[in-house]
Amino acid sequence: MSDSYANKFENSDGVNTANNPYLEEVDTSRRQLIGSSLAAVAVLTGVTGSGAALAAKELLSKTKGELLGFTAVPVSNSDEVVVPPEYDAQVLFRWGDPVGAKLGSPVFKADASNTWQEQALQAGMHHDGMEYFPLSQSGNRGLLAINHEYTDDGLLHADGMKNWSAIKVRKAQEAHGVSVIEVERKADGWKVLQNSKYARRITANTMMAITGPAAAHKQMQTSYDPSGTRVLGTLNNCAAGQTPWGTYLTCEENWNGYFSTSAKPTPQELRYGMRNKGWGYQWHDFDTRFDSVVEPNEAHRFGWIVEIDPKDPNQMPVKRTALGRFKHEGATCTVSKEGHAVVYMGDDEKFEYIYKFVSSDKVKSGGFAANKNILDSGKLYTGRFDAQGVGQWIELTQGMNGLTADKGFAVQADVLIQSRAAADAVGATKMDRPEWIAVHPNTREVFVTLTNNNLRGQAGRSSSEQPDDANPRSDNQMGHILRWQEDGNDAAATTFRWTHFVLAGDPAMAKTEHQGTVKGDIFSCPDGLRFAPNGLLWIQTDISTSVMNQGIYKAFGNNMMLVADPVTSQIKRFLTGPSGCELTGISFTPDQRTVFVNIQHPGETASERSDPDKPLAISRWPEGAKAGRPRSATLAIRRKDGGVVGT
Ligand code: FEO
Ligand code: CA
Ligand code: CA
Ligand code: CA
Repeated sequence: MSDSYANKFENSDGVNTANNPYLEEVDTSRRQLIGSSLAAVAVLTGVTGSGAALAAKELLSKTKGELLGFTAVPVSNSDEVVVPPEYDAQVLFRWGDPVGAKLGSPVFKADASNTWQEQALQAGMHHDGMEYFPLSQSGNRGLLAINHEYTDDGLLHADGMKNWSAIKVRKAQEAHGVSVIEVERKADGWKVLQNSKYARRITANTMMAITGPAAAHKQMQTSYDPSGTRVLGTLNNCAAGQTPWGTYLTCEENWNGYFSTSAKPTPQELRYGMRNKGWGYQWHDFDTRFDSVVEPNEAHRFGWIVEIDPKDPNQMPVKRTALGRFKHEGATCTVSKEGHAVVYMGDDEKFEYIYKFVSSDKVKSGGFAANKNILDSGKLYTGRFDAQGVGQWIELTQGMNGLTADKGFAVQADVLIQSRAAADAVGATKMDRPEWIAVHPNTREVFVTLTNNNLRGQAGRSSSEQPDDANPRSDNQMGHILRWQEDGNDAAATTFRWTHFVLAGDPAMAKTEHQGTVKGDIFSCPDGLRFAPNGLLWIQTDISTSVMNQGIYKAFGNNMMLVADPVTSQIKRFLTGPSGCELTGISFTPDQRTVFVNIQHPGETASERSDPDKPLAISRWPEGAKAGRPRSATLAIRRKDGGVVGT
């Protein structure tokens, strides 16, 4: 790597105000921003009145300019959750914990012998994205909607994948999807309310509607649904979003892994990484929906954003096709200057794109009832991150920007079902695995985690896969966080200015490509990303279990969560997770005194399927050996003095 390369990026940590004068504005009016952000959140969540105002007042009096006042925790290799000594982390909701009171709330069996019918009434596996929906003024009672991304079938069944059967496939399907639980904070901590009328499991077999421009299209029709408007279930639900009208958006990420193609996949199947025999879930052995030779269109019905009303357990979840089909990581909502809904979305794969949806209609007051179809019509864009910190949103609308019938885009459904091909055609910027996107509550600046991409700049890669200004490192094994501001500070704008917030990695590392620009505690492979209402940025890491604690990743230990001050770019380590896990699912109560976090796949090994004969080989979290198997779980984390978290 050349010296000029190093010089070019030595200031690219978010403090280079020559690129982004708006950062100065943030600094000078910081106190005011902190106060008004709480008011803004109060409006969005419907929690108004003294609670939010009091929290704002307390935050201002407690912070005194020092926002990261907690004691940083060191890098860890131990099989436990470590938080600062001023904090408590409570395990709230684990894989297998009952959801609701049906059939007597079946309890988890430590040897994984629960039936599929019981699993359908229990927390799924591998908690991921999550949102908190307050039900009270204080925020001490609310709903958590929690994604269950995928299964480790070595842990899910008593004898793992031995004697594979239709029953085991069914249990795996019931361990996917979403849980909605009601939680309340009592004197002795947060509790799940078992008899809640809201409690609900949504699985890979829950009936859903398909709406928007791709609904009913020929390619959406299957033998069991000739209408192309109904589909069973949602899969690989990764990150999530909360709409301003109070619904939950869950995102279908690596859905391709569940389908088996013929020995020779079609170009469209290959573009989404589909292959013969899939990724080893083996559902196609017993459920022909997942055999693309039998049902070639079923895969078109996955890869969407799904809207769920957490307050209506009878609502049929809706797949919103206007938001495109790819490996959806997240769906971060905001509102444009004129009041249109804006959803930012990443497609998490090496060299994939960032997308933005802007609704045709304006957001109305009146909750979901008043905004039932708002996500069905609007414009989908993909991002071009050009040199020198400027960028453009390119519209993915049939008939525009070369998306014409002779290129395979005869109608908008073609553009949406093959969103990746449409984004290829318009020349979007290939990014280093876009994961979560977060919008600053006041400045409206947008931040995205680009988790890593070791293929960038490798021999044989095309010119668009070489280092560029936005993705500056070849062999990018550490990842980075990029930030942008929409022009006119309007989320509906079609141009923006971007810069880097931080290049992850230890600045002291030997190889230039791995040296980060981190000011504070080191980390690698940023994934989860969320602003608290007070403007602190929470970062979660996902170093893959295939490389965790090895080679260049040794310095980082287990996956972790950090807090950043976007004004100073200071970053401080807040939590380290148990062995083999990743950190995900950040959500705050409106008073910011509790942060909910998910520990996903403790005990995962490089193979991603545990040995059922040695379930404790890597981790005994959360209960130790007596419980039998490690379990993904939701944590509720609070300061011992009840103060605002992260300050
Ligand atoms: Fe499910 Fe890209 O993380
Ligand atoms: Ca992720
Ligand atoms: Ca993951
Ligand atoms: Ca990840």
